[in-house]
Amino acid sequence: ASAQSLAGRRILVTAAGTEEPLDPVRYLGNRSTGRMGFEVAAEAARRGAEVVLVAGPTPIATPAGVRRVNVRSARDMHAAVFAEYDSMDAVIKAAAVADYRPAETAEHKIKKSDGELTLTLTRNPDILYELGQKKRHQILVGFAAETQNVAEYARGKLAKKNLDFIVANNVAEKDAGFGVPTNHVQIFFADGRAEDHPLMAKSALAGVILDRLEEALKNKNEK
Ligand code: PMT
Repeated sequence: ASAQSLAGRRILVTAAGTEEPLDPVRYLGNRSTGRMGFEVAAEAARRGAEVVLVAGPTPIATPAGVRRVNVRSARDMHAAVFAEYDSMDAVIKAAAVADYRPAETAEHKIKKSDGELTLTLTRNPDILYELGQKKRHQILVGFAAETQNVAEYARGKLAKKNLDFIVANNVAEKDAGFGVPTNHVQIFFADGRAEDHPLMAKSALAGVILDRLEEALKNKNEK
C-alpha cells in the first residue's frame, strides 16, 4: 500500500463492545476494548481515507484524522451506522455487538432481595446483517469471534450477512481476540478463498485487512 492508497475513499469502522443498560448504574457488556477497530481506523486514516469510527465505550484516544461517533448500546450503534452508510465506500465491523439486551431498563437502581433475580433478554438488531441486506456499492467486512468450529461458523456469517470478506479470530486463544495487543486470524472471502495469517500485532493486522480492502475496491471498479 502506498502512502495515500485510500485517498478519496470513505470508510466506516466500528469498534469496542456495546453496553446494554439494566438500570442507571448497571449494564450487560463484553470484553472488547476497541483496540482492533481503533488500529484499523488509524491505519485507514494514514492511507488517506476519510474515516468515521463508531465506537462503543472505551478510554482509547481517537486516532489522528478520524471522525469519532461515540455510542453505548447496540441500538445506538445501529442508528449511528445507518446515518453514515449511504455515503460510505466500505464498512469494517470490528465491534463486539450485544446480540441481546435486557427487555426492560429499570428507571431506578434495582434493589436486592433475598431471592433469585431473573433477567429477561430480548434480541438486538443484527447491524451487519442489515447492512448486507441494504448493500449497494459498499464493500462489507465483518469479524467473527468464535471459540470453536471457526471456519464453519465464519463462512456461515460471511454468506448470511452478504459480506465481501470476514476476519475470523479464535477468541479462546491466549494471544488472540479480546483485549490483547495481538491477534491470530483466518480471512474468508466471498469467492471461496481462505487465508491463514500468523500471530501478529493488531496494528500489523490492520494493514493486512486494508490491503485486502484495497484489492476488493479495485476489483469492483474494474467490473
Ligand atoms: O476490541 P478488542 O479488545 O481489540 O477485541 C477485538 C475483537 C475480538 C472484539 C474483534 O477482533 C472481533 O472479533 N470483533 C467482532 C466481535 C463479534 O461481535 O463477533 P460476532 O461473531 O458475534 O459477530 C459477527 C459480526 O457481526 C461482527 O462483525 C459484528 O460486529 C457483527 N454484529 C454482530 C451482532 C450484532 N447484533 N450486530 C452486528 O453487527
